[in-house]
Amino acid sequence: MLELKAVNPKKDTLKTLVIPVCEDVDIHDNRTVGQLVKKAMALKEFNGKIEEEVVFHHPVEVLADRVIFMGAGPKAAVDTEVFRALAGRAVNSCITRGLDDILLTVPSSARIGLDAAELIEAMMEGAFLGNYRFEHYKSERKQITLKQIGFWVKLQDVRRFSRLSARVAAACQGTLQAREWVSAPAADKRPDAYAESIATLARAGGLNVVIWDEKILVEKGFEALLAVGQGSQAEPRLVFLEYRVKGAEKTVCLVGKGVTFDSGGLNLKIGGSMEGMKMDMAGSAAVAATLISMAKLKPNLNVVGVLPLVENMPSGKAIRPGDIIRTYSGKTVEVGNTDAEGRLILADAIAYAVEVYKPHILIDMATLTGACVVALGEKIAAVFTKEDALAEAILTSGKRTFERCWRMPMPEDYKELLRSDFADISNMSSSKWGGAITAALFLSAFVKDTQWAHIDIAGPAYAKKGSAYCSPGGTGFGVRLLLDLLEKL
Ligand code: BES
Ligand code: ZN
Ligand code: ZN
Repeated sequence: MLELKAVNPKKDTLKTLVIPVCEDVDIHDNRTVGQLVKKAMALKEFNGKIEEEVVFHHPVEVLADRVIFMGAGPKAAVDTEVFRALAGRAVNSCITRGLDDILLTVPSSARIGLDAAELIEAMMEGAFLGNYRFEHYKSERKQITLKQIGFWVKLQDVRRFSRLSARVAAACQGTLQAREWVSAPAADKRPDAYAESIATLARAGGLNVVIWDEKILVEKGFEALLAVGQGSQAEPRLVFLEYRVKGAEKTVCLVGKGVTFDSGGLNLKIGGSMEGMKMDMAGSAAVAATLISMAKLKPNLNVVGVLPLVENMPSGKAIRPGDIIRTYSGKTVEVGNTDAEGRLILADAIAYAVEVYKPHILIDMATLTGACVVALGEKIAAVFTKEDALAEAILTSGKRTFERCWRMPMPEDYKELLRSDFADISNMSSSKWGGAITAALFLSAFVKDTQWAHIDIAGPAYAKKGSAYCSPGGTGFGVRLLLDLLEKL
């Protein structure tokens, strides 16, 4: 679907040509494009500002049905994200117009001062991700996505960057798969069904898949996972996805929170805060999709995904505040609040992963706390780790992919807040402040001396409102971030 093309717009017939335009300078090398841009800029209603758009039909300069000019803002402010978003907007604009085929003009990387590969990659990502809607439950599809997206580059660049489109497609397909899972209604992704859906795709992609059901979890002593699941009619599952490379030295474990619906349990969530909780499995979706994409990208390291899947419901069988659980690690936890369920299931999954896989690095991704959204808002994830190099690597991948991350502190003295009078630790802080931090500190009790990072994606995992390259619903946040990171570890 993504294709690099070198065209002659005076000779080749084009359906829809999109041209990005900066406010202050010409960013294209091609003379014909330059002439067209001049004409567009002469219009009163178009100045090249971000989000501005103007269309010429059958302009004399080129053999195109239409040329869409899209504002990219001032040159000093452009970065890869400006072009990722521009490409996403271009695709959306064409979907709205009912078109099915577009050609995006890639600006001259030298003129805008960006790396050519990074620029093309970003534009491909924006276009691919923008070309998606979650519409399975609509009786009629209102918006038909594009069939073909071309990128106009110089002839030598078609060959030079020929491998880029497959890479971008693999990463973006993963992101879209994560969006599919996150946007799906909770009733249609209870742990058993969700595990099967993951397994089907993972096996087709060549991963090794193991699913543990309740019986095995009881035998193995996953009491925290079972405790969170016991209020629901649906049994929990623990899913393992393995990507292995012969001779690879490093093993990375990725653990993802998979609460398919978080009602809060007996500490039932109050009005307004339960509605979106089908998204509480976004960490597991990001991890599963990352592994499936990895099998296509084939980096040289072993990666294991561990996904605790569970539904957190209130019932006569549900765990109660005050109950004490013996976790997989042997540590006991007093349940201060049944709504702090994510850290319980992660405690078991992390302890098992550390014991059995002995990973070089373990990263967990979770929609863990509302406090994290209070701290960083809905677009930025929090990174907790004691390892400076790992933190730096994650933040760098966040910048490259624009899946933004911010490092948070893990102060030792805050551990006091998790003290329990009766068990080794409480899942609930005694302070109402700093909830994202105390949640991370709770997890740290189960990692032993493994290099570990926790990424709280409670804010960016879901978007009620669409944006340039993300329609409303699950965002797939974390997939491109983890893929970029794993390639560099
Ligand atoms: N799933 C929620 C966290 C969440 C909140 C995710 C908003 C996405 C958006 C988590 O299980 C939860 O309920 N956390 C509680 C913890 C508290 C009871 C200690 C919270 O953040 O309020
Ligand atoms: Zn909860
Ligand atoms: Zn939760």
